[in-house]
Amino acid sequence: MPLFNELKLHKVLGCGKTRSVWLTSDKNALKLSHIFHNGTTNRMEWAIWHHAEPELKKILVPPISIHENGIYMVVTLGEPIKRNEVPKIFPSFITDSKSSNWVRVGNKILLADYAQGGIVTHLGLDSKKLHDETIPVEELCRK
Ligand SMILES: Nc1ncnc2c1ncn2[C@@H]1O[C@H](COP(=O)(O)OP(=O)(O)O)[C@@H](O)[C@H]1O
Ligand SMILES: [Mg+2]
Repeated sequence: MPLFNELKLHKVLGCGKTRSVWLTSDKNALKLSHIFHNGTTNRMEWAIWHHAEPELKKILVPPISIHENGIYMVVTLGEPIKRNEVPKIFPSFITDSKSSNWVRVGNKILLADYAQGGIVTHLGLDSKKLHDETIPVEELCRK
């Protein structure tokens, strides 16, 4: 994982409840956890990606690297979509399916914000552990 000051952030791509998302100089997206959120949603997405079944991975934005406590994470860059482009069919455990949570990557529409309780439950992950910033990210990925 590059050091934060080596990442060269160009502009804000979006801002949600828990993170701001930045365009980096190497054309990726960096998800920076808001103060008081302690990297939890980045840690959740990282763990979800590493436990997801191949079928689920097909609709998730692939993460690239993460800081050891999740405070920032680099993921594949996507483009915003229109409301009518949200996929019509997706698993019912994806409960937060608003259009701002999806992006276009190449010719696919993928879920960019998958730090969602329904997915954590579906995969049988320990929500308490995901919220504990003293546990290193690698440990969350152990199967
Ligand atoms: N991979 C990405 N590429 C481009 N923009 C993104 C990407 N991921 C998120 N965004 C933008 O940043 C916003 C906030 O990211 P999101 O993952 O939804 O964070 P939060 O957990 O705070 O809601 C999104 O609504 C979207 O506009
Ligand atoms: Mg969001």
